[in-house]
Amino acid sequence: MAQLWKGRFKKELAKETNDFNSSISFDCRMFEEDIKGSIAHATMLGATGIIEKGESEKIVAGLKKILDDIKSGKLKIDMDAEDIHTFVEGELTARLGQTGKRLHTARSRNDQVALDIRLVLRKEIDEISQMLKGLIAVLCNKAEENKTTIMPGYTHLQRAQPITFAHHLMAYCSMLCRDLDRLADVKKRMNVLPLGSGALAGTTYPIDRGLVADLLGFDSVCLNSLDGVSDRDFCIELASALSLIMVHLSRFSEEIIMWCSWEFKFIELDDAFSTGSSIMPQKKNPDIAELVRGKSGRVFGDLTTLLTVMKGIALAYNKDMQEDKEAIFDAVDTVKMCLNAFTPMIDTMTVLKDNMRSAAAKGFINATDCADYLVGKGLAFRDAYKATGELVAICIDKGVTLEELPIEDYQSVCNIFDNDVYAAINLEKCVNDRTAIGGPAVASVEIQIQNAKNIIA
Ligand code: ARG
Repeated sequence: MAQLWKGRFKKELAKETNDFNSSISFDCRMFEEDIKGSIAHATMLGATGIIEKGESEKIVAGLKKILDDIKSGKLKIDMDAEDIHTFVEGELTARLGQTGKRLHTARSRNDQVALDIRLVLRKEIDEISQMLKGLIAVLCNKAEENKTTIMPGYTHLQRAQPITFAHHLMAYCSMLCRDLDRLADVKKRMNVLPLGSGALAGTTYPIDRGLVADLLGFDSVCLNSLDGVSDRDFCIELASALSLIMVHLSRFSEEIIMWCSWEFKFIELDDAFSTGSSIMPQKKNPDIAELVRGKSGRVFGDLTTLLTVMKGIALAYNKDMQEDKEAIFDAVDTVKMCLNAFTPMIDTMTVLKDNMRSAAAKGFINATDCADYLVGKGLAFRDAYKATGELVAICIDKGVTLEELPIEDYQSVCNIFDNDVYAAINLEKCVNDRTAIGGPAVASVEIQIQNAKNIIA
């Protein structure tokens, strides 16, 4: 396909130049947004009298037909075209002749591409937000089923204090709710119309940017044309929000991988969401979780790509910026691909409650509660802490838990201990006494679940 900028060149473009320069292989996915943007632009050109009404209508009808034809497969996008903008305009001109050539009045590919990316990413943000809500809903359901499933909470991957599986899952819900919030925030700044910035210096035509913004659902128009064409903050912000989503999914994946090891056996993944080994017949591997953990690196890489592309280019548009699309599209596609597999994997996993309970019974995770018992009887916390530490040492020597240690041993360390200590260190009680906002007690977790449900409603 011939270039749009032929006039001043005397030679044909070298094939190597076109192959290197062309972005059609990855910007073809913006065909719908490119055409819708052009329809809005052409409508405005007609409404303001910049071109004749009749011509504007013909252009709009022609663009709609091109859109239908691409969607139905009747029109194939030419992979030799320079980019999607060139292809659509070229096709329109091939169909409408002179009238098609009027579409690009008062516009540049620089503000056109800035518009298209915003339109595409705005839609992707909505889709990813929906997918996040799906995962949050699954986690809320699992949490409902596990409000009394006691498990050890960890610090340093050492058993620390008793929590419930519901409480643990709701921690991930909190992260994902922040992710939703971040996406909404990114969308807010993305939803500003760059069209009308022209190549860099606006335009002399009496355009109506407000009308275009209304037609395309933008909240406002960008106020500086240089910034309008050279701003890719919204790509970087989105890549950053997506990177955090991947951090969260990756941490969750790491726990899934640990939990389904024989060393933990807290959960079992469904057969449909696990894989086997080609040589070891006994293996059942958490490949989805491992791939999600691995793919997080791609998204962080995409963020670094975008930051690096943008950091050294003078205003306004530079061709370096064509590199934005592969990076941000890859980040978007990766997150969607991960969520698509991760959510049903979580939904179908089996929670091995008894194994969690047995793990909670070992590791002295009620030691803090034992110390708190002494504090309740008047001892200073630091003394209570020391006495309990000595008790733990005795338990380790004897190979018993705090629950199994005879009262005589308790009293040998501190004569304040009485038989009511056993009720005080009961794991269920230890969990349900943690009623402070954010804690693992059933009532507290119920608030957390309700809050997450309100957010996704
Ligand atoms: N394919 C180009 C891109 O993605 C479109 C903008 C071209 N503008 C230009 N001045 N060459 O960035």
